[in-house]
Amino acid sequence: MTAPLLVAHDLSRAFTSGRRRVAALDGVSLSIAPGETLGLVGGSGCGKSTLARVLTRLVPPESGSIAFMGDDWLALSGGRLRAARRHLQMVFQDPLAAFNPRATVGGVIADALRIHAVVPREKRRAEVGQLIERVGLPSGLEERSIRDISGGQRQRVAIARAIAVQPRLIVLDEAASALDVSVRGRILELLVDVQRETGVAYLFISHDLAVIRAVSHRIAVMAAGRIVEEGPAAAVIAAPASDTLRELIGAVPALKGNPQA
Ligand SMILES: Nc1ncnc2c1ncn2[C@@H]1O[C@H](COP(=O)(O)OP(=O)(O)OP(=O)(O)O)[C@@H](O)[C@H]1O
Ligand SMILES: [Mg+2]
Repeated sequence: MTAPLLVAHDLSRAFTSGRRRVAALDGVSLSIAPGETLGLVGGSGCGKSTLARVLTRLVPPESGSIAFMGDDWLALSGGRLRAARRHLQMVFQDPLAAFNPRATVGGVIADALRIHAVVPREKRRAEVGQLIERVGLPSGLEERSIRDISGGQRQRVAIARAIAVQPRLIVLDEAASALDVSVRGRILELLVDVQRETGVAYLFISHDLAVIRAVSHRIAVMAAGRIVEEGPAAAVIAAPASDTLRELIGAVPALKGNPQA
């Protein structure tokens, strides 16, 4: 068996708002193998985005550990952190919030190439053009403002930016949730194609079990800050062990009573 790419152990993180203390993560452990898609599904407020932010070091956990590519990820700093960061990218639900709204499509992708020195400067333009083509965007979109393109196109730019640096893992937090059904389907296809070509692993987060089912090799189900069940996607959906998963299955007509659909 190949060594896992990422192993998170016993992560906890609480937030206080007013006098209320919410355990957003309450002892979460998971592992992701190279090239696989782990789907993380759960209802609103169960802690999915907090887990995404902790894994990408946007939010520090209160306890627990993360090994990424064999390193103690939470202890890395300086040059070693920068080098490792390249390999762990993130795509959000609303890329507009993640981009400088004045940026151009080409600028967003070129910045990622520059920051991580992926290709020599003189090859950057050509590489941007190739990435734009790779994610199915029309050529010539480079000069357009990120504000002036559609939501689906913007999500393709976010994917192009993420794959530009040839990462080992991309955390996608509700990355297709704001898109309408046909656009969403094409984005999911793009992600699957990219994975087949590059061997990148995904942590694919969604509240929508049908979407999770379409892209995931394994599924982890989350409720109230904990992972309540986990296993191969088809097997877990065919025989749900938690109330949370039974409810999620009940909300997807195509899966209800026909778990192989
Ligand atoms: N920065 C914060 N300050 C205070 N509370 C927070 C913060 N971030 C998250 N929380 C709380 O932690 C819990 C988990 O939130 P989180 O955003 O991780 O859930 P989620 O599963 O991503 O939900 P959704 O499906 O709505 O995206 C919620 O109760 C939320 O209100
Ligand atoms: Mg969320």
